[in-house]
Amino acid sequence: MTPRKAPRPLDGRLYTDPAVFSEEIERIFSRMWVCGGRLEELDEPGSFVTRELGGESMIAVRTAAAGNVAGSNGNGAAADAGHGLAAFFNVCRHRGARVVDHCAGRTKVFQCPYHAWTYGLDGRLVGAPHMGRDFDAAGAGLVPVRIAAMNGFFFLSLEADGPPLSEVAADLPDLSRFTLDRLVRGDRREYEAQANWKILCENYNECYHCAVVHPELNRVSDYRNGGNLEYGRYYVGGPMTLNDGCNTMTATGRSDRPDLPAIEVADRTSVQYYHVYPNLLISLHRDYVVTHTLWPIEAGRTRIVCEWLFDPDTAVAPGFDPSDAVDFWHLVNSQDWDVCARTQLGVASRGYSPTAYEESEACLQVFGGWYLDQMGL
Ligand code: FES
Ligand SMILES: [Fe+2]
Repeated sequence: MTPRKAPRPLDGRLYTDPAVFSEEIERIFSRMWVCGGRLEELDEPGSFVTRELGGESMIAVRTAAAGNVAGSNGNGAAADAGHGLAAFFNVCRHRGARVVDHCAGRTKVFQCPYHAWTYGLDGRLVGAPHMGRDFDAAGAGLVPVRIAAMNGFFFLSLEADGPPLSEVAADLPDLSRFTLDRLVRGDRREYEAQANWKILCENYNECYHCAVVHPELNRVSDYRNGGNLEYGRYYVGGPMTLNDGCNTMTATGRSDRPDLPAIEVADRTSVQYYHVYPNLLISLHRDYVVTHTLWPIEAGRTRIVCEWLFDPDTAVAPGFDPSDAVDFWHLVNSQDWDVCARTQLGVASRGYSPTAYEESEACLQVFGGWYLDQMGL
């Protein structure tokens, strides 16, 4: 497949216009599978998280221990039976109040704080004070959102009739050697960048800026060390080779952490970077994995959740200390968000007239082509 390629950097209005942003929520984020985070956050029955996406709020919950079959609510099944998961719009069926405020927690029911309508973990309405016998409680469950699991992540889709997540899984490169299913979180940071989500994706997808913006990173992985461009219907990315003597991304370029158990020889001297459309950035090192999930708030503002994942045996070993990886990527993140905010300011100007990509920005051409296709442009 030869992908469509954007001929030049995208026009400024595509990063700044609220109408374009609304269209993106409609055409991209509401139609595609969006990465919600790690299944580890939904580890026991009743564990839940909320996620915000362009004005929508969703609840994802574990309804039953993994492997048990979960029930369905009055609106049709939202549960992914294999994993005992369900997800719903965070919207009360009475008069629309937001049901849950917390980002994460554990509960037996979801009770709306307005008039105390109460919903079970499966979304069914189980309590509605003083509603008469004629009221059809069975038809008043929380409205389902699709949820499914892949590689230790859960994904959400607002598109009731969209393709299964297995279609995305089948398109992605084989990352099984990184044993993503079993990795556990060593740390997590949240950020808010004053930049459009596409500026963050584009920045992630090129290292043309690395020598200038990330001198520390460039000492570990030279900006000219990019490998082959890889892409599919649902992703773009590729490897970068580490500098001589380096074996991972830390300030020193080295770590004594053991390799992830199934990696190959070539992984010991490189890092794989993939953007899984639309909101997951995943960076795979020989000894740990970093993920960024992007949550567009408005055209010029994006929430970012960054997580550091490790082999569970490594994470429980005495003396385990993820701070070399965390500190390094936190520095890189901060440098990136700064330059992305700077770009957001510039593309908002009537003086911005984009010219051309540099050769090493091939990923951006592919991403830009994918984006223009999705938007019908
Ligand atoms: S809006 Fe939720 S109970 Fe009334
Ligand atoms: Fe960067």
